[in-house]
Amino acid sequence: MGQSSPQTGRMASPVRVIVVGAGSRGENYSNYASIHPKRMKVVAVADPRTFACTKLQKQHNIEDKNIFKDWQSIAEREKFADAVLICTPDRLHKDPAVAFAKMGYHILLEKPMATTAEDCVAIVEACTQNGVMLSVGHVLRYDPLIHKIKELIDAGVVGDVIHIQHLEPVGFYHFAHSFVRGNWRNEAESSFSLLAKSCHDIDLIHHWAGARRCVKVSSFGSVSHFQKEKKPTGAGDRCFDCSVETRCPYSARKIYLDRVKRGHTGWPVSVICPNSVPDIESVTEALRSGPYGRCVYECDNDVCSNQVVNMEFEGGLTAAFSMVAFTEEICKRKTTIYGSMGELSCNGHEITVFDFLTQRSTKHTASSDAPTHFGLSGHGGADYHLINAFISAVANNNPSMIRSGPEETLASHLLVFEAERSRLESRVVYCGDDAQS
Ligand SMILES: NC(=O)c1ccc[n+]([C@@H]2O[C@H](COP(=O)([O-])OP(=O)(O)OC[C@H]3O[C@@H](n4cnc5c(N)ncnc54)[C@H](O)[C@@H]3O)[C@@H](O)[C@H]2O)c1
Repeated sequence: MGQSSPQTGRMASPVRVIVVGAGSRGENYSNYASIHPKRMKVVAVADPRTFACTKLQKQHNIEDKNIFKDWQSIAEREKFADAVLICTPDRLHKDPAVAFAKMGYHILLEKPMATTAEDCVAIVEACTQNGVMLSVGHVLRYDPLIHKIKELIDAGVVGDVIHIQHLEPVGFYHFAHSFVRGNWRNEAESSFSLLAKSCHDIDLIHHWAGARRCVKVSSFGSVSHFQKEKKPTGAGDRCFDCSVETRCPYSARKIYLDRVKRGHTGWPVSVICPNSVPDIESVTEALRSGPYGRCVYECDNDVCSNQVVNMEFEGGLTAAFSMVAFTEEICKRKTTIYGSMGELSCNGHEITVFDFLTQRSTKHTASSDAPTHFGLSGHGGADYHLINAFISAVANNNPSMIRSGPEETLASHLLVFEAERSRLESRVVYCGDDAQS
């Protein structure tokens, strides 16, 4: 069962949005305006990259006076739109979110909300105090199959939920791209990988656990393999100057150049040429001189490549989460929910529920009616459903249309920070209880 097509907004005119950060995510969400021009209009864009601004300006016919180099320049002007889409890098979320909330803009904020617990709290306070809606980019909440899991749990198909097991297989070349060579490789520049990558997963576990609070958490993890000491003998510092490149699965030539040669210019190739259209020439140049051509054993990466988190919720519900870089699947999560009356498992394609009483299995699927344009690069359509829900919420002045709203998202983000604290301090953390922790 797919999510509905655009709900009818009560506003006669389209919701006016400002795109703050016109990179991959900002561009992706702004596509909604091209598909539904009567529902959303991009009226301004802010990004220090001229290439990114010009691309969005042409696509959405934005006036010259509404092209900005940074978010601060927008915040200096009187409010001139209904909402902002904040799609800046992780460390640039809190300041614009708080500033725009104070100005009365409704906010779609990319995940993670912010890189510290205090900043996440400050964002939620600013939104609440100023009466603006907040939708956080937890796209998986809008994935029809994942949403179906929650509907089945709530319908009681497994009885009481006793244990949740959830795996995030990041994918070997995806990890090398984003977390070894790319934007999320280094905590000081972005955030730790449990926050950058797995805040989605901890949020889902927290959501499936229902109203129960997590009481204790423990976590282990480390950077494996992508380290200088693992560099093969004879390897160069860049893939173009490497004598063992053909034997390396992480070769940038294989991940990017071979793809563009096959005519594939979407992710991850699209990300590596920030100031031009990706083609064989620009990709070759990016690999020769840019970060994505570096040897994976010679990068300044420090974020965990494998991490486990164990959680105990009120009432004894337990959950075990694993994130691992070294997988064939790219982010096709695998989940099993063990209940008092049955077992539910999801392999990323379909859900199977085994009923202990009848000893029969039932299959469930869910389809997305998102335009294929979004489906290709947008988390299987979930990006479309997220922006659709946000725009509908703003148009109808109805925050209940947002699934990733402030309170629940804050609670799951705080759980991520507690889990990381457990890993760093090698001990069980009692959530929200500083005296015992
Ligand atoms: N929801 C998801 O599943 C998901 C997936 C990927 C990324 N993200 C998150 O989305 C955010 C953006 O990621 P991305 O992949 O689009 O990165 P990106 O690098 O492609 O885009 C970020 C953009 O912000 C711009 N920027 C930098 N400083 C700015 C400023 N002061 N004012 C305005 N713009 C500024 C950059 O030039 C860049 O174009 C990150 O926080 C990331 O973690 C979420």
